[in-house]
Amino acid sequence: MKTLKYANNDEMPALGLGTWKSDNDEVYHAVREAIKIGYRHIDCAHVYGNEAEIGQALTDAIRGGEVTRKELWITSKLWNNSHRKDQVMPALHITLNNLQLDYLDLYLIHWPVVVRDDVFIPENSDDMVPLSTTPITETWEGMEQCHQLGLARHIGVSNFSVHKLKELVAGGGQPEMNQIELHPLLQQDEMLAYCKNAGILLTGYSPLGSPDRLPQLKADDEPNLLMHPTIVEIAAAHNVSPAQVLIQWAIARGTSVIPKSVNPARLRQNFDAIDLELSTEDIEQISSMDKHYRYVKGQFWAMAGSPYTVANLWDE
Ligand code: A2P
Repeated sequence: MKTLKYANNDEMPALGLGTWKSDNDEVYHAVREAIKIGYRHIDCAHVYGNEAEIGQALTDAIRGGEVTRKELWITSKLWNNSHRKDQVMPALHITLNNLQLDYLDLYLIHWPVVVRDDVFIPENSDDMVPLSTTPITETWEGMEQCHQLGLARHIGVSNFSVHKLKELVAGGGQPEMNQIELHPLLQQDEMLAYCKNAGILLTGYSPLGSPDRLPQLKADDEPNLLMHPTIVEIAAAHNVSPAQVLIQWAIARGTSVIPKSVNPARLRQNFDAIDLELSTEDIEQISSMDKHYRYVKGQFWAMAGSPYTVANLWDE
């Protein structure tokens, strides 16, 4: 398995299992199955609401001798209602408790967005807290405390623009990872170039276009990545599935990628994508697909009166 190397030489398997949208009654079996297939990297988050089931699956796999904790790479994310410095470590302890772990391999600030302590999913602008009240630099200090105590071996961010990464770095922070939406319709070349130069690794979410998002989170006219003619054609030429082309494209680019599945056959298929070899022509053809199209637009933070807008979220 190809890995991404951190500054201290720790290695993260490039292919991980995504768990956003994995139902509580399905994710236990998905994680058990994934570990049997050979997945060693599991991507989690407090807000997904399924960390307890994932934790039970990890515990049972470890107790059953299928894998050791050391062989696993477990990522999770700090939710938006816990951004004050004094809230970060207690939030991580809840995640560790749910996952039945004593450390995470990677802990990320989930969004550069703050909501009130008593809010989980915001409904109106009163639920939102501006970054000027709780700046990312303050949250980052809490993340650094978690790192210093060994509760998170590595720390980073998610959904950060290049501008926000630069601000964090200018403030003395050194995020090791930015997890963002990445796929052929949203290639983000400028982000890749900046992160390479700044020593920040990238993980791509929604690599398959995230077709199982709730209808209210989907645009009526959104493109179907798995049925895109270029991807379908390349897949047919290699006798593989479109999903496998999308996964290998991400790995070949030097990013980590976390396709979600709860289906045993698709878990296996996605894992087998690590052996696919795309040609230079394939990669060139896929390069020409870029449309800067986001499936996850972040409009849910930008309700009327919110300090967040889609424009200031992505700085574009
Ligand atoms: P399922 O969990 O039933 O396999 P993303 O990772 O971009 O968020 O996409 C996840 C969605 O893609 C889920 O609906 C998942 O369904 C589906 N999916 C996962 N793997 C494949 C695959 N190999 N082929 C087609 N759809 C897939």
